[in-house]
Amino acid sequence: MNIRVENLKKYYKNQMVLDIDELDIKSGAITCVMGSNGSGKSTLINIIAGLIEDYEGTVYYDKKKLSKNIMMNMTLTFQNPYLMRQSVWENIEYPLKIRNIDKATRDEMIENIIEDFGISELKYKKANQLSGGEGQKVSLARAMVFKPKLLLLDEPTASVDKEYTKIIEDIIKRYNKNTNSTVIMITHSMGQAKDLSDEIIYLEKGRIESV
Ligand SMILES: Nc1ncnc2c1ncn2[C@@H]1O[C@H](COP(=O)(O)OP(=O)(O)OP(=O)(O)O)[C@@H](O)[C@H]1O
Ligand SMILES: [Mg+2]
Repeated sequence: MNIRVENLKKYYKNQMVLDIDELDIKSGAITCVMGSNGSGKSTLINIIAGLIEDYEGTVYYDKKKLSKNIMMNMTLTFQNPYLMRQSVWENIEYPLKIRNIDKATRDEMIENIIEDFGISELKYKKANQLSGGEGQKVSLARAMVFKPKLLLLDEPTASVDKEYTKIIEDIIKRYNKNTNSTVIMITHSMGQAKDLSDEIIYLEKGRIESV
């Protein structure tokens, strides 16, 4: 899925937090978004995700405006993982349920992703018993399980240790390669951005900095 942003302006009260004339994000690529704290990265990714609707300008998804169908084909993981107060299994099952995938297929898809992520020991734990890093893993598994065409990741490794950061990076790379999905990922790590991305966008005070 290709993303194009045109004449985007976002204000909070009188403060302009985003001001982007045009931005194209390539289909099938991994694009990393970098920039200082408060530069507008999360706001931008939330707008693309359709979670912030109050802004000026237009976002196009394969040249089309946001629709239910596009919403069903994309997902966002948050900087602070948000999980339902249920088991890990039920959390990962949720996106499959709302897409009407039958139980047998669901079970198989969940088992596969749990194995892929190496989180079998968390399967029956309640989400509120997880550590920050475990929560991040589970929210990523929940995001990828239905194979969205657009995967939006807000600092997916921020609360994860070094060893697991590498695992998550490999999972993201593999996901992008195997599904040809578009990935937009916010990171503060230049090393991670260089290693993972096809393209890097720098935001500064809400504007795209040219490189
Ligand atoms: N709900 C809100 N109400 C008012 N101001 C907000 C709100 N959300 C974000 N802001 C402001 O908008 C600006 C951009 O915030 P945003 O969260 O997009 O930055 P960020 O680049 O993701 O920063 P970080 O690297 O710290 O996550 C900041 O000045 C922030 O204080
Ligand atoms: Mg942020």
